[in-house]
Amino acid sequence: MTTFWSTWICVLTIGSLIGLTWLLIGTRKGETKGSVDQTMGHSFDGIEEYDNPLPQWWFMLFAGTLVFAVGYLVLYPGLGNWKGILPGYENGWTGVHEWEKEMNKAEAKFGPIFAKFAAMPVEDVANDPQALTMGGRLFASNCAVCHGSDAKGAFGFPNLADSHWRWGGDAQTIKTTILGGRMAAMPAWGEILGEAGVKNVAAYVRHDLAGLPLPDDSTFDLQAGQQAFNTTCVACHGAKGQGTEAMGAPNLTQPAGYIYGTSLAQLGQTIRHGRQGHMPAQNELLGNDKVQLLAAYVYSLSHGLNTERLQAKGKSE
Ligand code: HEC
Ligand code: HEC
Repeated sequence: MTTFWSTWICVLTIGSLIGLTWLLIGTRKGETKGSVDQTMGHSFDGIEEYDNPLPQWWFMLFAGTLVFAVGYLVLYPGLGNWKGILPGYENGWTGVHEWEKEMNKAEAKFGPIFAKFAAMPVEDVANDPQALTMGGRLFASNCAVCHGSDAKGAFGFPNLADSHWRWGGDAQTIKTTILGGRMAAMPAWGEILGEAGVKNVAAYVRHDLAGLPLPDDSTFDLQAGQQAFNTTCVACHGAKGQGTEAMGAPNLTQPAGYIYGTSLAQLGQTIRHGRQGHMPAQNELLGNDKVQLLAAYVYSLSHGLNTERLQAKGKSE
C-alpha cells in the first residue's frame, strides 16, 4: 500500500474512533439519583417522549466496542501499513496467507504419507487400511455428490462398487479415469432411425441384449431392430453389445450396468437423443497423490478388500 493510502486509512480510522468517543462522552447525561423521568416536553395525542440518560450497561457496551477496536488495531494489521505487534503477520493479514499457513501445516503432516502411497502400486494401496480410510474421506468430500456416499451411483452416475465398468475396472484405468476425467459421447439417433426405428432398436436392446421381457401385447419388429443395431451401433457397442471400454460405450448385455434405465421409455430416450455422461477430471483439483488414494479406494470397493476389514479394524481399535 502506498504511504498516501496508508495515511488516508489511518486518519479516517483513528479520526472516527476519536469522533465516536467524543460523541459518546459529549452527549452523555449524568444520571442524577432520585430524579424523576424527564420528558422532551412535547405531547402528541397524550403520548410523550422520555429524555432519560442511556442505561449504564448500554453506555459500557459502546465504550467496550471502542476499547476493543483500539486493542485490535494495535495487535493486528488493520491500520494501513501497520503490521500489528503480534508475531506472524509480517506479510500483513489476508485470508490467503492464513490458508497457505494451514496448507503448509497439512503438507508437513501428510506429505510423507501421501508420498509413501504414491510410490506403491494402486492394488497394494488398496490393501492398506490407513490409505483406505484417507481415500474414503476424500471420496466423501469430492465424489459422493455424484456417485453417492456408498459409491453405488444414481441415474446417470455409475455404480463404482459393482463389477460393471464403462471405461475399465483395473486399478490403472480407474486411476486414469479419475485423473483425466471422461467424456462419453453416445450420438442421437432419432433423426436417422425415425420414431419406429428407435422403438424397434430399443426393444431389441432390451429383449435380445439385456435379456429383459417385453410387454405381452407389444408389436415391435425385433428383426428390424437387430438390423439397425448391426449397422448403427456395433461400431461402438460391439457385435454382441458387449461394449468398448476405450470409448466408454457400455456393455448392453448387463442390465445392472445401465445408468440411464432399461425401460422401453428410457431406452427410447437414450437412443433418440443420445447421452453425454461427463466425469470431471481431478488432476488439477486434487493432484496425483490424492487421486492415488481415491483410485485405491474405488478399486477396493469392487474387489471386496475394504469394508469388512476396515470395520473389523475399527472395532479392534
Ligand atoms: C459413437 C459410438 C456409439 C454409437 C454409434 C452408439 N453408441 Fe450407445 N453409447 C455410446 C456411449 C459412449 C455411451 C455411454 C454414454 C454415457 O455414459 O453418457 C452409450 C450409451 C448407450 C446406452 C445407455 C446405456 C446406459 O448406461 O444406460 C444405450 C441403451 C445405447 N448406448 C444404445 C445404443 C444404440 C441402440 C445404438 C445404435 C442405434 C448406439 N447406442 C450407438 C456410444 C455409442
Ligand atoms: C459431477 C459429477 C461427478 C463427480 C463429482 C465425480 N464423478 Fe465420477 N463419474 C461421473 C459420471 C457422469 C461418470 C460416467 C461417465 C460416463 O458416462 O461414461 C463418472 C464415471 C466415473 C468412473 C468410471 C466408471 C466406469 O464405469 O468406468 C470412475 C472410476 C469415477 N467416476 C470415479 C470418481 C471419483 C473417484 C470421483 C471423486 C474424485 C468422481 N468420480 C467424481 C460423474 C462424477
